[in-house]
Amino acid sequence: MLTTEKLQKEILRLKKERDVCILAHAYQTQDILEVADYTGDSFGLSQQAAKATQKTVLMCGVRFMAETVKILSPDKTVILSHPDAGCPMAEQLDLDFLGALKEQYPDSAVVAYINTTASLKTQCDVCVTSSSALRIIRAMPQKDILFVPDCNLGQWVADQVPEKTFHFFHGGCPVHIRLFAQDVAAARAAHPDAKLLVHPECRKEVSSLADYVGSTTGIMAHAKESDAKSFIIGTENSILQHLQFECPDKAFYPLSKACICQNMRLTTLIDVYRCLLGQGGEEISLDEETRLGAKRCIDAMLAFG
Ligand code: 13P
Ligand code: SF4
Repeated sequence: MLTTEKLQKEILRLKKERDVCILAHAYQTQDILEVADYTGDSFGLSQQAAKATQKTVLMCGVRFMAETVKILSPDKTVILSHPDAGCPMAEQLDLDFLGALKEQYPDSAVVAYINTTASLKTQCDVCVTSSSALRIIRAMPQKDILFVPDCNLGQWVADQVPEKTFHFFHGGCPVHIRLFAQDVAAARAAHPDAKLLVHPECRKEVSSLADYVGSTTGIMAHAKESDAKSFIIGTENSILQHLQFECPDKAFYPLSKACICQNMRLTTLIDVYRCLLGQGGEEISLDEETRLGAKRCIDAMLAFG
């Protein structure tokens, strides 16, 4: 019978034989992270995408992440692990609406969260991720910022950069907005000694109550380095399992059972295997004009280091 271990061994053999780099976002399941060449948050994945030496990159995550790889590596074959894995937030804002916002705020620099389509990025000045947004916006010379599409991440940055003026599009992650202050009250009552670590895609009523706010990689690093022994996690619940593997002596509790991204959960280890056999996933292609326009926006982010 095929077991997880046998399948993982076959995947490791195939990726070497076929010169494939496997990138896995931190919201993928543990069995997938274990066969990946790189795992991490959106910023780490984009940096890795720019460096990968293999001819093919398999992105286990959602569509905008695979597009980012293709934008930076046009000569590579880029495969999205599951054709239906999209990020609903990335689809919230279209070019017409963005055009109207730009007309409304003509003096603003347009900052796009990386969770956007390649075509939207062509019309923005600089891309940011949850782990780079604060640093990049602080370093930008412009005082007026139009931040799209996640108003929660945007507000979290704005609160820490009071010297700049922000305008928002009221979009956001449909998964993280399921977390409320009342979940924090209930979790804190159940686990009074636990530290609360949340993603900046959460509502302000949640992030303002947290002990730490950061990207998926940031949350994992913080939990590992902290002297605390128990944590309430306010991001996609897959992170809890990864943390339990990394820190078996610590306890992790979900802020809410509702924080599950169905898109991130679509990819299974069998999908990874099928992609390596050339039987699954979707090859990403972008027209050159879109790719170059979006690349300018991502390059501006990578230039900040
Ligand atoms: P990060 O991995 O950058 O923290 O982003 C989380 C996310 O929502 C990915 O879709
Ligand atoms: Fe998109 Fe939210 Fe899922 Fe991340 S967690 S992929 S932002 S829907």
